Amino acid sequence: EKGGYDHFMLKEMVEQPKAMMETLMGRCCESGVTFAGLKLNTEMMKNINRIQIVACGTAYHAGMVGKYYFEKFARISVETEAASEYRYKDPIVDKNTLLIVISQSGETADTLAAIRLAKERGAWVLAVTNVVGSSIAREADDVIYTNAGPEIAVASTKAYVTQVGCMMMLASFLGELNGKMEKAEGSRICHGLMMTPGLIEKALETQAVIKAFADKNHKIYDLFYMGRGVDLYTSMEGSLKLKEISYIHSEAYAAGELKHGPIALIEDGTIVVAVCTQENVFEKMLSNIKEVKARGAHVLAIVQEGHQDIATEVDEVWVIPEMDDDITAIPTIVYLQLLAYYLAVARGCDVDKPKNLAKSVTVE
Ligand code: F6R
Repeated sequence: EKGGYDHFMLKEMVEQPKAMMETLMGRCCESGVTFAGLKLNTEMMKNINRIQIVACGTAYHAGMVGKYYFEKFARISVETEAASEYRYKDPIVDKNTLLIVISQSGETADTLAAIRLAKERGAWVLAVTNVVGSSIAREADDVIYTNAGPEIAVASTKAYVTQVGCMMMLASFLGELNGKMEKAEGSRICHGLMMTPGLIEKALETQAVIKAFADKNHKIYDLFYMGRGVDLYTSMEGSLKLKEISYIHSEAYAAGELKHGPIALIEDGTIVVAVCTQENVFEKMLSNIKEVKARGAHVLAIVQEGHQDIATEVDEVWVIPEMDDDITAIPTIVYLQLLAYYLAVARGCDVDKPKNLAKSVTVE
């Protein structure tokens, strides 16, 4: 059933190009995004004055990417919150609110509770989920399926990339609905998204390099990730993956925040993964890298092709193909998933059944 792979997690990571293709199919084309069957339309959007994205864990990180691109493409301000926080804080939600929930399983208790609360107060609820007919799919007013196929491994991988794909399509869709995004922009984003299955394939081809890095460094007791802009959310998700399956302590920071405290933890040999895929903050990342290097960090930088010369500043570079800066969240996470996976394997962890974790959290 694992199709010849050692773990479901590896099988599911390898399935990501296909999963992404299924997500985009029939929705994303050069002329823009369409969601067949979606009830939310231009008329309804006129009445929406607040958008909230609510989810847990990995799905919450997809929600952070969603916020970033809703704001960038549709110029709508968005709050993204963990469902366990949202449900207990008397959130500001009413009939003019669009609540977007994200859930692979469609059964997460806190996310379901958030839907019920928002619906009681008249909000329109749009669910992005992987499981057809799940509780969350049934209770929402509108559903977008991620179409990733069944995900068995506890650590979510293909569900995440497809959730991010859906967020980007939604951002572009809403941008067009509210007239804040040029048609050409929409085409650019769709074009970029259509490249992602191939780019994920390229990421998967680098497994030997990632495994070698993991085999050499698996005895670490903590690991730091840093990034700016969308790379911050990729870092957060990479850090969560690592904690879940390898039990290595890790943190992910907005690179500019490091000097406001956490840099105190960097010592000789501490591994820092610097995710640097965004041109607009590349120079800023470079100065943050110099700061941690000055404290002895061992830096692994992830950069797009064209920035290989960062090698003179860091200890290790993973070069990803050149791509539109707005789609890097999708291929880049694959490198971090593989890093978490191979570190966990090198440490002898049971990757598919991490201790203390369940695939679907149906109780609080
Ligand atoms: C991480 C992971 C969890 C889930 C979270 C939400 O790899 O699997 O953090 O993402 O429990 O689950 P869903 O998406 O089913 O609501």
